[in-house]
Amino acid sequence: MRRIYFDNNATTPVLPEVLAAMMPYFSDAFGNASSIHHHGQETRAAVERARESVAELLHCRPSEIVFTSGGTEGDNLAVFGLARAGDHVITTSVEHHAVMNACKRAGEMGVEVTSVPVDAAGLVDPEDVRRALRPNTRLITMMMANNETGVLEPVEEVGRIAAEADVYFHTDAVQAVGKVPVDVARLGVDLLALSGHKIHAPQGVGALYVRGGTKLTPMMFGGSHERFRRAGTENVAGIVGLGKAVEMARESLASGGAEKMAALRDRLETGLLAEIESAGVNGAGAPRAPNTTNVYFDYLEGEAMIIALDLKGLAVSTGAACSSGAIEPSHVLTAMGLRPERARASIRFSLGKQNSADDVEFALALVPQVVARLRELSPLYKKRVAVG
Ligand SMILES: Cc1ncc(COP(=O)(O)O)c(C=O)c1O
Repeated sequence: MRRIYFDNNATTPVLPEVLAAMMPYFSDAFGNASSIHHHGQETRAAVERARESVAELLHCRPSEIVFTSGGTEGDNLAVFGLARAGDHVITTSVEHHAVMNACKRAGEMGVEVTSVPVDAAGLVDPEDVRRALRPNTRLITMMMANNETGVLEPVEEVGRIAAEADVYFHTDAVQAVGKVPVDVARLGVDLLALSGHKIHAPQGVGALYVRGGTKLTPMMFGGSHERFRRAGTENVAGIVGLGKAVEMARESLASGGAEKMAALRDRLETGLLAEIESAGVNGAGAPRAPNTTNVYFDYLEGEAMIIALDLKGLAVSTGAACSSGAIEPSHVLTAMGLRPERARASIRFSLGKQNSADDVEFALALVPQVVARLRELSPLYKKRVAVG
């Protein structure tokens, strides 16, 4: 059976070039990057090359990059590395659980937390962030691209507010890196988390940009790795894969990859809306990452759609993978003001580098059929047809 994968915001396949770059570091080049002999020097050099590659993408110094196990660790290191009991942290109502639950835990530890709302398009109003500032505000943490809707938050504007107030600013850029240009100086961020497996590197590796001079308390204690910011022997093969994936993302951004991706996404989106009534795009009014569209199909259950589409070979999701299976509607969509039924009737389609125009046509042939069949079985839809 043909299988099309449109769940690239959950994870992406490792690209062949990335895998090829990693392979030697599983066998011949096996040294511990902290060893001083030949084997250690070899892997140390590979780790530092990857650091330079990430720094080049983010327009920062290599020494400002800390390798992590992924986005969750980067987000946690930003929050717990800076916030102490008695401090105030500003966050938003649409963050990934990696930030949301880190802030929740910080709250239990005596940190004051304010969560600013979003509008119907999913956008934070920077003035809400300004109004939330307090004398003890230590950190603002606002994501760059939303994982469920792709909505791009006004990071630059909030960066200016943070700088004026002399408050640290962290952004979870896990879903933005590789899809839109990311320049930490232009954005005005002090910390920025990214994850390998969203950009065709393996799962379990990521990086946190930490502006030089930022006093970050580590979460793990051990050796002097990563300039005392993250103890533990480096995941050399993973880091090499991240470096290669970042290099490829940089080249792709420079050669119009984002525009091509947006064209595919737009074809999918307009095709679906043309074929299917009582459907619409969540976050349509906002700037969005080029690979994501989140569409509601009223009178349906998202989970039922996912299963029906999967049986026909199309992999999509209802939003955050970690909350799939939960009965609660998405916190992101409800924060945007969607009523629970519409939030539950929403599906996320997220494209990756491996997807083609053909894949989009496959989805366009399949989704309207599946929606029609499920609606025939939906008592809500029948009632609506009868009434209206
Ligand atoms: C916006 C966002 N932040 C953080 C994460 C967590 O990243 P990781 O899976 O690398 O821990 C994800 C992954 O879904 C994400 O989409």
